[in-house]
Amino acid sequence: MKILGCLFDMDGVIVDTAKHHYIAWKSLADELAIPFTEVDNNALKGRSRLDRLECILRSGNLEVSSKTKIELMEKKNQLYLKIIDSLGPGDIRPGVKELILELRQKGVRLCLCSSSKNASSILKSIGILNLFDGIVDGNNLMLSKPDPEVFIKASKLLGLTPSACVVFEDAESGIEAARSGGFFALGISAEGSLKNAHANVKDLAHMSLDKLQAIVDSHAPN
Ligand code: G6P
Ligand code: MG
Repeated sequence: MKILGCLFDMDGVIVDTAKHHYIAWKSLADELAIPFTEVDNNALKGRSRLDRLECILRSGNLEVSSKTKIELMEKKNQLYLKIIDSLGPGDIRPGVKELILELRQKGVRLCLCSSSKNASSILKSIGILNLFDGIVDGNNLMLSKPDPEVFIKASKLLGLTPSACVVFEDAESGIEAARSGGFFALGISAEGSLKNAHANVKDLAHMSLDKLQAIVDSHAPN
């Protein structure tokens, strides 16, 4: 297939905020006396704020009211926003901006596909908000990854079929979402690979449309 669209996850793909989410959730879990490790965190990457909170509460056998859930999410988010307060253009992961600029110049349509409600403000801080043709984020989604809703919405917004789009993801939940929606799923992972991805790369440094097309072609079903 010829690549006509590229759908970018944000946290962990465009910017290294996955680790900041962990620090903020860890602090909340400590306060609630619920054990929470980096391994636990990795399993929750890509999921919505509410999903993540509910998983943590469940692991601690803690039941709370909806009102308390909202307060806990707000607390986590305030801490998270404090941690990422100084985010700037220098925090874009290697190769990402160069790839986005090349894709735009060659007419490939681009959409940001994040579960985060902070996506637009983060993209603005790092100076690339205006480089996407569309943004689908936690503010306009009903279902959290691994549901494919985010990517389906994005492909519709770009006017493309899923089979003409590549998804860039650092989380298993996102890879699962991409695959079940019929997209080509490229895993971005510095440590090991995402097991359900069509293909994996460590990062997007030196990535180009030609290289991307070659990766897609080499994994295309016969
Ligand atoms: C991203 C991250 C998740 C995070 C979710 C919600 O997709 O990968 O780990 O839980 O967005 O983020 P938010 O900034 O809205 O709390
Ligand atoms: Mg991510």
